[in-house]
Amino acid sequence: MAIREILEVPDPRLKIISKPVERFDAELKTLVADMFETMYDAHGIGLAAIQIGVPLRVLVIDLQEPDPEAAPEDCGDHGCGHDHRPVINNPRVFVNPEIIDPAAELGSYQEGCLSVPDIYADVDRPKACRVRWHDVEGNLHEEALEGLFAVCIQHEMDHLDGILFIDRLSRLKRNMALKKLDKARKAA
Ligand code: NI
Repeated sequence: MAIREILEVPDPRLKIISKPVERFDAELKTLVADMFETMYDAHGIGLAAIQIGVPLRVLVIDLQEPDPEAAPEDCGDHGCGHDHRPVINNPRVFVNPEIIDPAAELGSYQEGCLSVPDIYADVDRPKACRVRWHDVEGNLHEEALEGLFAVCIQHEMDHLDGILFIDRLSRLKRNMALKKLDKARKAA
């Protein structure tokens, strides 16, 4: 396993339309392992293969949601307001995913992306959808998703078609986001 470099805007490779996986082999398993390692290292909840420069239709997701059974942990003095409960890991792999039946009803969620560091913006997407995908062995699955999972898979699926979440904002908001990113990079 290896941590790979995450491509950031405006890298033109992020605009590539990824190709379907045809071989469910050891190479695919290595790619998936590297994607998980890279995603966890960057504190992300989802990653598409193209974000590490591999133009294949492969996504990894782990929402790492707080354990509802655990007692909330005290923030102590720093009072940052974050949820400090231990998280539950639920690593999921989606090969050649397809969205079917997106809900007509839209929901708005504040999204971010490892390829657009430190920029967050509200994006409207169908609140729920069904997803059909293959696992690393090539077996077909289908599941109805909603909430954060539905948001995340739609965001990651966009990467497979060369679309970033900032591309779904108005031109004004996208330009503001890119300017902010530019400023942050210059300051760093
Ligand atoms: Ni992203």
